[in-house]
Amino acid sequence: MKALVLSGGSGTRLRPITHTSAKQLVPVANKPVLFYGLEAIADAGIKDVGIIVGDTAEEIREAVGDGSTLGINVTYIPQDKPLGLAHAVLIAQEFLGDDDFVMYLGDNFIVGGINGLVDEFRTERPDAQILLTRVPNPTSFGVAELDESGRVAGLEEKPAQPKSDLALVGVYLFTPAIHEAVRSIEPSWRGELEITHAIQWLIDQHKDVRSTTISGYWKDTGNVADMLEVNRSVLETLTPSVEGTVDASSEIIGRVRIDAGAEVRGSRIVGPAIIGPGSVISDSYIGPFTSISEDCRIDDSEVEYSIVLRESSITGVRRVETSLIGRNVQVTPAPRNPAAHRLVLGDHSKVQISS
Ligand code: DAU
Repeated sequence: MKALVLSGGSGTRLRPITHTSAKQLVPVANKPVLFYGLEAIADAGIKDVGIIVGDTAEEIREAVGDGSTLGINVTYIPQDKPLGLAHAVLIAQEFLGDDDFVMYLGDNFIVGGINGLVDEFRTERPDAQILLTRVPNPTSFGVAELDESGRVAGLEEKPAQPKSDLALVGVYLFTPAIHEAVRSIEPSWRGELEITHAIQWLIDQHKDVRSTTISGYWKDTGNVADMLEVNRSVLETLTPSVEGTVDASSEIIGRVRIDAGAEVRGSRIVGPAIIGPGSVISDSYIGPFTSISEDCRIDDSEVEYSIVLRESSITGVRRVETSLIGRNVQVTPAPRNPAAHRLVLGDHSKVQISS
C-alpha cells in the first residue's frame, strides 16, 4: 500500500496569517500540520509516499526532505496548477501503479491517526473508503448522504443546500478502481477535477464505497478559534521535557516542553506549553495552552492560550490572550503620551484592543 499526500495549492493565503507560505506547514504545537499526517502514514506501516507539490514546492521539500527522519520514502510529484484532488490522482498514476493507496490532504489534522482505518480497509478491501465527520458548516466541505443502512448514497462538493452535516474528511482509501473514475469525470464549476465526483462515479457504477464517521478532526479554515483549540488538544498530550536552560528564579509547572537552545529567565511557565528552540523567555508569564515557536523573545510580558510563530517578539505587554501571532511580528507598548494605539497590520489582520 502507498500514500499520496496533497501538499500543492497556490499558497497565497494562510489566513489569518497572510503569508505566501504553504498552508500545510501551519504549526500545531510547534509542528507543521503536514507532519502529523506523514507520521500517521508511517505509523500505519506505509513507507512509499508521493507528495503532490505546487507553488510552495521548495518550502515543502525543505521541511520534509527525503522523509527518512519520518521513516518514509518520499517521491515528489509536481503539479503545475491546483487543478483538483482528482487531478492529483491522475498525475500520480505512474507513482501509484496498481497499488491500493491512502490519499491524505496535507492541510487536514486527524486526532488519533489512521491505523484502525487502514487495517479495516486492508481486511475488507472495498473499492473505496471515505472518512466523514459532523461539521457545523457543511457548505465548506464535500458532503455525504447515507442511506438507511449507512451506505454512501451520494456525495456533493460544497453544496449550497447540504443534505447532511457529514463532511468528507481529507483521508480517502482507494483501490486502483479510482483511476478509471478520475479519467471519466469533467471539471466542476470551480474548474477542478473533484475527487468527490470521482467517488460519486464509483457509486454510480455500483462499486463498493464505504464510510467511517470519526470525531477529532480539524482543517485550516482560517478560523483562529479552531486553530487555538486544536493546538490546545495537542498540547494536552505533550510529553514534558526540558532541554533548554531554565534559571533558578524561574518556575515551570505542569506539562511544559522547553526545546534545546531555548532559555527561560526569571519567568513562570504554566503548562501545557511549548517553548521552541532558540526562544528566550525573560521576566514573563507563559500560561496554559501556549505554543511559542523557534527564535521568539518574550520579555516582561504575559501570554496565555496563544500561538506565537517564529522570530516574533512580545515586550512589555500584558496581557496577550487567545491570540495567533504570525512570524517576525513585534508587539510592544505604545508611548504613554499621547495614549494611542499604533498599529502596522498586514492584510486580513484582526485586532482586539482592551481599552
Ligand atoms: O478538507 C476536506 C475537504 O477537502 C473535503 O471536504 C472536500 O470534499 C475536498 O474537495 C477538499 O476541499 P477543499 O476545497 O477545502 O480542498 P483544498 O483546496 O483546501 O485542498 C486540499 C489539499 O489538497 C490542500 O493541502 C491543497 C492540496 N491540493 C489541492 C488542490 C485543489 C493539491 O495538492 N492540489 C490541488 O489541485
